[in-house]
Parts: sequence; C-alpha cells; structure tokens
Amino acid sequence: MLNFAIVGAGSIAPNYAEAIRLHKETTLAAVCDNNPKVKDGFVKTNSVQKYYQNYQDLLQDSSIDVLCICTPSGMHAEMAIEAIKAGKHIIIEKPIALTLEEADRVINAAEKYGVKATVAFQKRFNPAVIQTKQKVDNGSFGKMIHANTTVRWYRDQSYYNQDQWRGTASMDGGALMNQCIHNIDLLRWMMGPVKKIVGFTTTRRHQIEMEDVGVSILEFESGALGVIEGSTAIYPIDLEASISIFGEKGTAIVGGKYVNELKEWQFRHEEEAPFKETNKTNDSQSEMIHGEGHYPIIQDMVSAIKEDKSPAISLQDGRNALEIILAIYESSTTGNIIYIN
Ligand SMILES: NC(=O)c1ccc[n+]([C@@H]2O[C@H](COP(=O)([O-])OP(=O)(O)OC[C@H]3O[C@@H](n4cnc5c(N)ncnc54)[C@H](O)[C@@H]3O)[C@@H](O)[C@H]2O)c1
Repeated sequence: MLNFAIVGAGSIAPNYAEAIRLHKETTLAAVCDNNPKVKDGFVKTNSVQKYYQNYQDLLQDSSIDVLCICTPSGMHAEMAIEAIKAGKHIIIEKPIALTLEEADRVINAAEKYGVKATVAFQKRFNPAVIQTKQKVDNGSFGKMIHANTTVRWYRDQSYYNQDQWRGTASMDGGALMNQCIHNIDLLRWMMGPVKKIVGFTTTRRHQIEMEDVGVSILEFESGALGVIEGSTAIYPIDLEASISIFGEKGTAIVGGKYVNELKEWQFRHEEEAPFKETNKTNDSQSEMIHGEGHYPIIQDMVSAIKEDKSPAISLQDGRNALEIILAIYESSTTGNIIYIN
C-alpha cells in the first residue's frame, strides 16, 4: 500500500481523494493546507487520518510516499523541490511552474534525488486522445500538414474573485496557462517540437491581470503548422475543447467540451486499425473538466514506483507546454516571432 498526501485541499483535491480511494493500492494518509478550515471540511469528509497546517511538518512525515501538489500554480515549483529533497515522489498539478527557470530546477532536483515525478495532464488518458496518439506514433497520418487546438470555455467573474491568486501573473497566468494548457500539451505531444511561434493575448471580459483570450500561430520543427485558440470568455457556457490533427493520409478531430468525443476519424488505411468505440463520456458532468483522468494519473504513479520506471507524463512534458505558453506571452508583449530552441 502506498501512502499519498495532498497539499492544497481546494477545488481539485476531491478528484485526487476520489482517485486514491478507488485505487486498491493507495491510501490518502495525510492532507496539508494552511487554511485550518479544511480540517473540519475536506479532511473529515474524506476520513483522512492526518492533517498538517504546515508544509514542513508534512514533509517530515516519513510515512508519506507520494505527494500531490494542488496549491496555487505559483507555489508548485518551490513546493515540488522541497518535496523532492525530502525524498517524496510527486504529482504536480499543472502547470509545472510559471517560469522555465523554475521548471528546470524542478527537473534537475528530481533527477538528482531519483524520485518519480509527473505533471497532471489527465486529458492524455481520454480514450479518443490515446487512439489519436497511437495513430501519430505508427505514422498513420503520413506527413503532418497542420493541427489546431481550441478551448472555448466560460468562467464568470466570481470564479476569478473566489481566490486572490486567480488570473494573476505571479500565481496563475490566464486562460492559456490555466485552462488551455491541457490542450497545448496535447498539441505538442502529438505534433512534436515547436520551431517558432507568434501570439496575441488580451483581456476582454474579466477584471483580471492576465488574459482571458489568447490566439497563436506556430510552426513545428517538422514543417507542419499549428493554431491555438484559448478562451475563458465564451458566453455563456463551456462550448468546446478540441484538438484536430491533419496529415497527408489522415484526419482526426477529438472534441466535445473536454476533448472527450471523437468527431472525425478518416485514415487511408483505417481498415488495419479502426477506431475502437469506448463508453462515451458524459460531458455534462462537471467533474469531466478535471476528468476521470486523475485515476490514470494515480495508477501511472503506482506502476512507476512498483516497476521502477518513468511516469507516462514527464516533467519535461510539463516544461514543453509551459515553454509554448510563455512564448505566446512574450510574442504578445513584444510583437516578435519567438524562436524555440
Ligand atoms: N488538472 C486539472 O484539470 C486542474 C483543475 C483545477 C485546478 N488545477 C490546478 O490545481 C491547482 C489548485 O487549483 P484549485 O482550483 O484547487 O485551487 P484552490 O484555491 O481551490 O485550492 C488551493 C488550496 O491550496 C491551499 N494553500 C495555499 N497556500 C498553501 C500553503 N502554503 N500550504 C498549504 N496549502 C496551501 C489553499 O488554502 C487552498 O485550499 C492549480 O495549480 C490549478 O491550476 C488543475
């Protein structure tokens, strides 16, 4: 049995608690949150035995094997590095960090201390996404032509007002960094490294420091092109989160509200490996935003530890998505094309 702990018992924490509860080989042994109210709330509701108000006290608990870092984004890197130094395996909520320097420090620390570490890009485990990635890997698309990812979601002002960190530059980022990052990860994962990128961001609907809409055009190292559109300002509800891949011999579009529905599946040699129908996810369930995907994240960490292998989603994957978003921010500020090495 592996003992898990959560730091940051806010809105995403219940998804971890549920996934850890469902997994036969994991226990939620401790929760840390500097807000003592969670003791009578989250800690009690989930029958967690230990509560720590202070992060350092949690780190000293030698019974904890894996730490799930669910605090505001600007805290991820420092907390991750401290956890790694304390010998804990870690699952970091997205984004891995808010700067590339911080991300590099997390990556270097994990390598140095030899712990298992991953970033929670749970949408990678959506069935249609997995099958699209398999088609990419076995070359079914042929030469890649272009790809698009779109997140058209709605967050009202009260979403941003509920916590001071939301929408800020130092603790969160905007629609691209917080919401669209899952899709940007999928785009990068499917299409490979990015060569150059231009982007525009603006804030049209909300009173927040960072963007509520951002768009970008990019060129991949392969020569294929890409388009990113991410918004939390779509009136009045979440409409779509999708990824479209267009190759010389294939087209796949995974859409729905949360990249959870197959929309197009056309391949020249489709008869060799047809799309396998899986249970269609009910996208009216609000938990799908965060997803059934947290269970596979927990499962993946368990097998990484048991089999002493790398988790499916690496810290470098976390850095890759961050790098694209920061390049869009830089391009939007400077008006330049940003070249990614
Ligand atoms: N994977 C997903 O789909 C998904 C969905 C939602 C949120 N997230 C990510 O999860 C993270 C948290 O988001 P949230 O919406 O749950 O935020 P939240 O504000 O609801 O919760 C954060 C919690 O961290 C606690 N906290 C703050 N500082 C702390 C400290 N120093 N020590 C201990 N606890 C501290 C707060 O008291 C709060 O309970 C963010 O990085 C966000 O991007 C990911």
